[in-house]
Amino acid sequence: MVVGSLNMDFVVQVERLPAPGETVLGSDFKTIPGGKGANQACAAGRLGGSAVHARMIGRVGVDSFGDQLKASLAAAGVDVSSVMGTRAQPTGVALIWVEDSGQNSIVVASGANWSLSAADIESVRSAFHGARCALFQLETPLEAVSAAMAAARGQGALTILDPAPAQPLSSDLLSSVSVLTPNEPEACILLGRPAARVGPAEALELASALRARGPAAVVLKLGDQGCLYADASQTLRSPAFRVEAVDSTAAGDTFNAGLAVALAEGHPIGEALRFANAAAAISVTRLGAQSSVPSRAEVEEFLRQRSVE
Ligand code: RIB
Repeated sequence: MVVGSLNMDFVVQVERLPAPGETVLGSDFKTIPGGKGANQACAAGRLGGSAVHARMIGRVGVDSFGDQLKASLAAAGVDVSSVMGTRAQPTGVALIWVEDSGQNSIVVASGANWSLSAADIESVRSAFHGARCALFQLETPLEAVSAAMAAARGQGALTILDPAPAQPLSSDLLSSVSVLTPNEPEACILLGRPAARVGPAEALELASALRARGPAAVVLKLGDQGCLYADASQTLRSPAFRVEAVDSTAAGDTFNAGLAVALAEGHPIGEALRFANAAAAISVTRLGAQSSVPSRAEVEEFLRQRSVE
């Protein structure tokens, strides 16, 4: 179950990101299905084995981008019957610049995503029935995220929150989270600290400070350093795979879906993190959001190759 945003991404590749006030020339313009929620749903659909049924809850405008986004998810095997249409707002869009190093810069115009309400969640409550795992992000109003998280918890589902774009969150909401998955800047915002790059010792402290805010477990995403997992009984590190980076867009979304799929299938956390890291690594080698999400077979082949190297 994925509750969140659907955006059409407007993507231009540039040699380097422009400084404030600067104009730079870019490559051809592309429209690529995206949105943190939809990316996670698409990845859950592609990465899940035959026993995984991915479903998306969200809002799009009644327009061609909305239709294209639903079609992209349906092609990945995602049930889109709980993606609602909003006449008063267009489908969300994201303006994305990707530089040659693979880094990007993203601005989102939320459109219909911002009309997802707690009442909407109530209207599709039956969709939560039997959910094993539910994924959330913060590109929709918090009232919808809270209502959906409560509905998922009511079904005994594991809840995974990607706190992006980051904002301070209540301990109430954080206490409903099974696994919180911030990167370093997001972790600092959640804790009200100045942004800082962290080394191994600080990462442990950051993860335990976040756990003290309520989530049962934290996965701190450390970019090319992999990630650090911490729950009440253990901490473990899962290294990133080295790849040739083209575009990091949706790498975090792919990671979260990979983690959700592996945990829902009953794999131990160490294996689940390795699977999620592999899926994210492959996505970084390709341009775009949903265009970069690998299939399960690709991830399994990648892991096979890396284990014999
Ligand atoms: O996480 C990547 C996503 O962030 C993009 O697809 C864009 O739509 C924004 O939501």
